[in-house]
Amino acid sequence: MKAIVQDRYGPADVLQLAEIDKPVARGKEVLIDVRAAGVDIGTWHLMAGRPYMVRLAMGLRRPRARVRGRDVAGVVEAVGPEVTRFRVGDEVYGTCDGSFAEYAAGAEKRLARKPSNLTFEQAAAMPISAGTALQGLSDLKSGQRALIIGAAGAVGTFAVQLAKHRGAHVTGVCSTTKLDLVRELGADEVIDYTQDEITEQYDFILDTAGARTLTELRRALTPHGTLMIVGAETSGKLLGGLDRGLRALLISPFIRQRLAVLVSTEKAEVYDELRELIEAGALKPVIDQSYPLADAASAVRRLTETHARGKLVLTI
Ligand SMILES: NC(=O)c1ccc[n+]([C@@H]2O[C@H](COP(=O)([O-])OP(=O)(O)OC[C@H]3O[C@@H](n4cnc5c(N)ncnc54)[C@H](OP(=O)(O)O)[C@@H]3O)[C@@H](O)[C@H]2O)c1
Repeated sequence: MKAIVQDRYGPADVLQLAEIDKPVARGKEVLIDVRAAGVDIGTWHLMAGRPYMVRLAMGLRRPRARVRGRDVAGVVEAVGPEVTRFRVGDEVYGTCDGSFAEYAAGAEKRLARKPSNLTFEQAAAMPISAGTALQGLSDLKSGQRALIIGAAGAVGTFAVQLAKHRGAHVTGVCSTTKLDLVRELGADEVIDYTQDEITEQYDFILDTAGARTLTELRRALTPHGTLMIVGAETSGKLLGGLDRGLRALLISPFIRQRLAVLVSTEKAEVYDELRELIEAGALKPVIDQSYPLADAASAVRRLTETHARGKLVLTI
């Protein structure tokens, strides 16, 4: 089968189209005939081996697992002997390792039934980013004033819709050309971060952009407000900006504001909940662009070198 593989860490050029053996579904695994795969920033981390601590888990000199890709949508081709929830022919979505390929073997517990009203391409845009937004906003309450920083990004486009669905008054922060998109997704107010500062206070801040200091974020929080740190790309080759999150966790017990760091989990229960929201019309993916499998490197380049609107997807 065809797959996007890498044999060393580095920029997007390390991703190559190759012919490799089709995987086999073992135990509780499902073999997926992949129809589409989402491109997420986590895939970039694994490709680049950055921050360097990624390499401790993935392989010090080169990635042990050669095939990239995590978000997946496709059709069940075969099931392992211990699989109980899926049958051959089921349409599924979720996450697995190695979704940039014609076939991928994924754990049953990280897959769910595909939303009936989404194409494979749309479904593949959902799992990681929408799952992150859902978990990041789990403590947001109706009537609260929510600030979504990075509102036009992969996580942010879902977060704006989910916060609105929760009954919050939503302000989205993004750059000039995306103000309309964020308004269309339901934001009550928008802030263009290239022109304006954040001047008001909010009960709940979801920060996916990682561009502001803790002091700046705390200033924008009400005295008992919650800060949920999702993204932290802006500093540190070693820790990738995690130091800001660590400082937040250290300070939080001693102040009235709650400073939290999201570590989202990839699991079927989250994707089942997302499916219900999608089928109820409360949530929809925003797809910036889709690419054929062979152009995976271009998709990852766009992810890092430009500012995508929502998600990038590979169709297989
Ligand atoms: N904690 C977790 O479990 C978890 C899970 C998934 C992802 N993440 C992290 O979440 C972060 C966001 O991921 P993503 O996939 O949504 O990335 P993304 O699509 O690149 O979105 C990031 C957004 O940040 C915006 N941005 C950049 N600079 C900004 C600034 N100074 N002020 C306000 N917004 C700014 C960009 O807006 P413009 O394009 O308009 O400039 C962009 O839309 C990443 O750091 C990722 O690693 C964490």
